[in-house]
Amino acid sequence: IVVDWDALTAEKDGFDHFMLKEIYEQPKAYRDTMRGRMLDGLEGVKLPELKVLTPERLKEIRNVHIIACGTAYHAGLVGRTLIERAVKIPVENDVASEYRYRDPIITPETLVIVVSQSGETADTLAALREAKRCGAPVLAITNVVGSSVAREADDTIVTWAGPEIAVASTKAYTSQLIAFMLFSLYWAQVTGRADTAQLRHELAAMEALPEQVEKLLEQATEMKRVAEDMAKHDNLFFIGRGVDHAVVQEGSLKLKEISYIHSEAYAAGELKHGTLALIEDDVPVIALLTQPALIEKMVSNIKEVKARGGVVYAITDEAHAELVGKETDGVFVIPTTLPHLSPALSVVPLQLIAYYASLARGNDVDKPRNLAKSVTVE
Ligand code: G6P
Repeated sequence: IVVDWDALTAEKDGFDHFMLKEIYEQPKAYRDTMRGRMLDGLEGVKLPELKVLTPERLKEIRNVHIIACGTAYHAGLVGRTLIERAVKIPVENDVASEYRYRDPIITPETLVIVVSQSGETADTLAALREAKRCGAPVLAITNVVGSSVAREADDTIVTWAGPEIAVASTKAYTSQLIAFMLFSLYWAQVTGRADTAQLRHELAAMEALPEQVEKLLEQATEMKRVAEDMAKHDNLFFIGRGVDHAVVQEGSLKLKEISYIHSEAYAAGELKHGTLALIEDDVPVIALLTQPALIEKMVSNIKEVKARGGVVYAITDEAHAELVGKETDGVFVIPTTLPHLSPALSVVPLQLIAYYASLARGNDVDKPRNLAKSVTVE
């Protein structure tokens, strides 16, 4: 008998790379991160792990700082939208390596949220310590129980993504989104900002996400085709508005990390203030459109790109597929969810584009050059 797979292949469960395996593990990671955190009948969220951030303490909070690096920073950008929407409290995002040096205004009424897959990133840890020194309560969102960040924060919400081996983060990022969704709803619930009907509505939509990702993954090979096309270019652009802009920033980072293709993620309305000069014949632009209130504006930005010869590939939801399809050169359709939950779906095709583009370029997908999974130096 000839066995043509080794121990490492076995660990990959038959997938060619850890990254692909981890992309496919996302439905499980969502379910595991939600498990036990919803009340019976979806009447609300329970987070008994919050010991310092009691409902009383949460009522005193006046502003939020979300601090992280890399992909976790991008999860924080989505976190901001979720918290501001649910709790109506202003949120700022900072990359951890900048935070301490800008003399941030931190008070005991500032909630500092640090996001870190590994819980060991040196810059994030230093920012956490600075926040504590200023008397702010610190909440960690991390994937590693007992990590430095988890130990030093006042409270921790663990993401149950399981070990992530590929350097390019996928399931850790999306689990962080789930953690932000749960925490923002919990905060709205304990401060009386959300009633049971609203909570039930939102939690039901969250519960549907894993299955929606499964459905979307059935069309993964479509992204392979797009990615192989992208892999022929040295520059490309991502555009989006609102929370879609946060998601394309992650899509762009993913692509850079493993395919080494240069890309930029632009807030679509900002293109005309400079970057449009770079759009000429055949420049690929990936547009993300999931926000009903912003679709029309996005379509006019797409027209600006097309008028300069750019080739636009869109990712949109079922509700907008027809409209968007008419204006673009290709469209990938994702299931429809509540607009603010869409990042948990829309990032998946972007992860797949990065994966297949890296593959098409013959790169080491799981171990990209110059990068480390965990960066423990400042
Ligand atoms: C490294 C990894 C990134 C990650 C970042 C933050 O740069 O390559 O994928 O997003 O660190 O890591 P953390 O463990 O703090 O989330």
